[in-house]
Amino acid sequence: MKILTLAALAVLLGMPAANARTADVTPLPARITMAEGDMIITPSTSLVIEAPAEDAARLRDYADAEWRRFAPAGKKSSTSVELKTVKRLEGIESPEGYRLNVTPRKALVEATSGAGLFYGLQTLMQLADGTDTIPALNISDSPRFGYRGMMLDISRNYRDKNFILKQIDALARLKINRLHLHLTDGAGWRLEIKKYPRLTEYAAWRPELTWKEWSDGGARYIDASDFGAYGGFLTQDDAREIVKYAADRYITVIPEIEMPSHSEELTAAFPEISCTHNPKGEPDVCVGNEKTFEILQNVLDEVMEIFPSEYIHIGGDEASKRAWKECELCQKRMADEGLKDVDELQSYLIHRIEQYLNSKGRSLIGWDEIMEGGLAPNATVMSWRGTEGGIRAARSGHQAVMTPGGYCYLDSYQDAPATQPVAISGYLPLERVYSYDPAPDSLGTDVTKWIAGVQGNLWTEHVPTAQHAEYMLWPRMIAIAEIGWTPQEQRRWESFRPRALKVSDDMRGKGYTVFDLRGEAGNRRQSTRTVDHLARGKKVTYNVPWWSNYNAAREATLTDGLRGGWSYGDGRWQGFLHRGDERVDVTIDLEKVTDITYVGADFMQITGPGVWFPAKVEILISDNGTDFTELATIEHKQKDSTGLSFKEFSWSGNARARYVRYRATSTEGCQFTDEIIIR
Ligand code: ACM
Repeated sequence: MKILTLAALAVLLGMPAANARTADVTPLPARITMAEGDMIITPSTSLVIEAPAEDAARLRDYADAEWRRFAPAGKKSSTSVELKTVKRLEGIESPEGYRLNVTPRKALVEATSGAGLFYGLQTLMQLADGTDTIPALNISDSPRFGYRGMMLDISRNYRDKNFILKQIDALARLKINRLHLHLTDGAGWRLEIKKYPRLTEYAAWRPELTWKEWSDGGARYIDASDFGAYGGFLTQDDAREIVKYAADRYITVIPEIEMPSHSEELTAAFPEISCTHNPKGEPDVCVGNEKTFEILQNVLDEVMEIFPSEYIHIGGDEASKRAWKECELCQKRMADEGLKDVDELQSYLIHRIEQYLNSKGRSLIGWDEIMEGGLAPNATVMSWRGTEGGIRAARSGHQAVMTPGGYCYLDSYQDAPATQPVAISGYLPLERVYSYDPAPDSLGTDVTKWIAGVQGNLWTEHVPTAQHAEYMLWPRMIAIAEIGWTPQEQRRWESFRPRALKVSDDMRGKGYTVFDLRGEAGNRRQSTRTVDHLARGKKVTYNVPWWSNYNAAREATLTDGLRGGWSYGDGRWQGFLHRGDERVDVTIDLEKVTDITYVGADFMQITGPGVWFPAKVEILISDNGTDFTELATIEHKQKDSTGLSFKEFSWSGNARARYVRYRATSTEGCQFTDEIIIR
């Protein structure tokens, strides 16, 4: 009998051999070829860097601080790590790409830029994985997108410099290259502006600890010197330190100064630049007032002094535009400039600010609403209300950064809501984030070539502490990193998940708070299997239409056997919002008179975004489709609640009918239901 080695046995059984050589790198490199042997790093291993002086200094400092101390360059050593810039790299277009060749004697990274060398160094550090051994291999790697970003909202709940530096460390390891800081919003101004100290002596402080309490308590600001003042801001020195720390890790910090809306704190500090001069602050600035432009441009001057980023983010989202319709100055501006509506008035402000930024050599980026009323000529669009805005911008030859709410909004629940701290809404587990493709081939290269990249956004209305913010970011930002870097055809959830677990463990070891993916509860149980019942596949007549913002599977939704998950945006839940108190009113045709014992539907409630249980449900039956008799009326006292809940509105008994009519009415918000079940 032949004795098999363990490895040969593994091959025979189709299992990976115990010593099968793999390279665990995240984000997954474009191409890896394993070779024989290992390089062993010893105290005499040297680090040789051939790069422009500034890059060389950055790379050496980084390797020393974050990896290990190498022998002084020039000293005779048996092994070396070498980082070298080269003029060209065959087959690699992106300046951020690199090639890595590891043999038992040498690990050589070649790139055309310091950033490329930095990414090669990151890959090497992951390969060494805290040991002295690097497997021999060849890697040829470059990012899918030039923009790989994370946004952090430090207005709603302030996060300080040290928190931001700590996140930059993690982003750098994942080859993320943009950090977008949401520095201003109604809940607080978070950047020192020397010309306007009132912004941070007043508009950065509140009596309450959390955004929620502040918002419920009337959204007031107080002086920094008032007893119990809570809040904070980045000094200009803090911001410069963040910019340098990020730049040393090849990350550009993009500052966001919100305009013309989300500006209550600005107009509370300077009531003269809102249309009403309300000292409590108004959401929108007055676009008719020249003083508005004077203040915004002076602020932007200081912002541009601190942040060398080409992109300056000016917000642009969710302007109410209400006060503009009544304001004399805004109306005069519209008449003078020939603007036909308030959308064009917003567009006037965005165009004018873009000209100002362009005159200083900078580019404007804003949320997708900046397209309303006409997009400024050189603007880049950040697509958050789904992907349509970004695709439309790309079709018209504008750069787009994709950050659609349904995949990239990290303030959504990442697991079963009952197991999680209260979140804004939605259900966005790691696997769904990972499933996002910002530039699918189906769009065609004329469109995809304008898609600059992808970004994960953490809004912090419901995220009051630093630990909680990390918990929401990690591991979901790991998925954003791989979406941004790895070629789409290489991406597999089955390959990513174990690597995400490993990165998560490493991060925990470094003191980060990370969601426990191993303990994930998963989606709503009902949504994981189809439900069979008498109405399944039967025709539904909508006596009032569903809400077109939430079509789900259109007229098939309520009888397709598919139940919804934790999120009303998952394509299983249909939305209802109609005139007065009318909401759901549908008739199901069972095709023949049938014995029935149950009629019921589940509704979802999450009152933050305005989703409520109905006030009343009526269930009626008919044999001819015109004359209905009542089976049940279910009254429900509508109550605000925290978090997400579900409730069944149903009848049980004995009846015979061909048609079943299901009606729901409400005086609050909109309603969502997923399936009308008949047994
Ligand atoms: C946004 O979420 N309002 C950009």
